[in-house]
Amino acid sequence: MDHIKSAIRTIPDYPKPGIMFRDVTTLLGDAGAFRAAVDAMVFPHAGKKIDKVAGIEARGFILGGAVAHQLSVGFVPIRKKGKLPHSTLSQSYELEYGTDEVEIHTDAIQPGESVLIVDDLIATGGTAEAAIKLIRSAGGEVVGCSFVIDLPDIGGAKKIEAHGVKVASLVAFEGE
Ligand code: PRP
Ligand code: MG
Repeated sequence: MDHIKSAIRTIPDYPKPGIMFRDVTTLLGDAGAFRAAVDAMVFPHAGKKIDKVAGIEARGFILGGAVAHQLSVGFVPIRKKGKLPHSTLSQSYELEYGTDEVEIHTDAIQPGESVLIVDDLIATGGTAEAAIKLIRSAGGEVVGCSFVIDLPDIGGAKKIEAHGVKVASLVAFEGE
């Protein structure tokens, strides 16, 4: 995991003073680190019943698409509001200031399908929590959430586990 962690770039004071931004573009651009990250995200789920991977816009699309390919399952985009063309279910979630909304196509998941949620990072867990609600509303069963990065100081993984959903992450940035 050291190779994966060291491939993530940290940008201090972005997008505002005091925030340490964990930038995965450097990991995505490093062939070995990208493959290692995708393999490590797939490994804990190999052999489980997974029918689909749901990736959260935007960075979750890149990793989720690769994970879905590796698992040989379909991919479901969870998009920011107003982007999906067919009928949708919507779920709002809280940001530091205000709220945002994510959507899923009503027919993206068949009742009873098992879905793995993938994103690059979990901070407050608000985005992933909204994704869980959408998948459950669509009739799917959430088998887990997989992230490259966890920020345990913020506590998002605990929030997700309170929904009975297992959280897996590859690296943590804690007190740094
Ligand atoms: C970031 C990150 C996660 C989310 C995590 O995405 O990629 O999706 O925030 O935060 P949370 O756990 O506090 O909800 P962002 O909304 O910045 O957008 P992007 O992926 O489109 O860049
Ligand atoms: Mg995101």
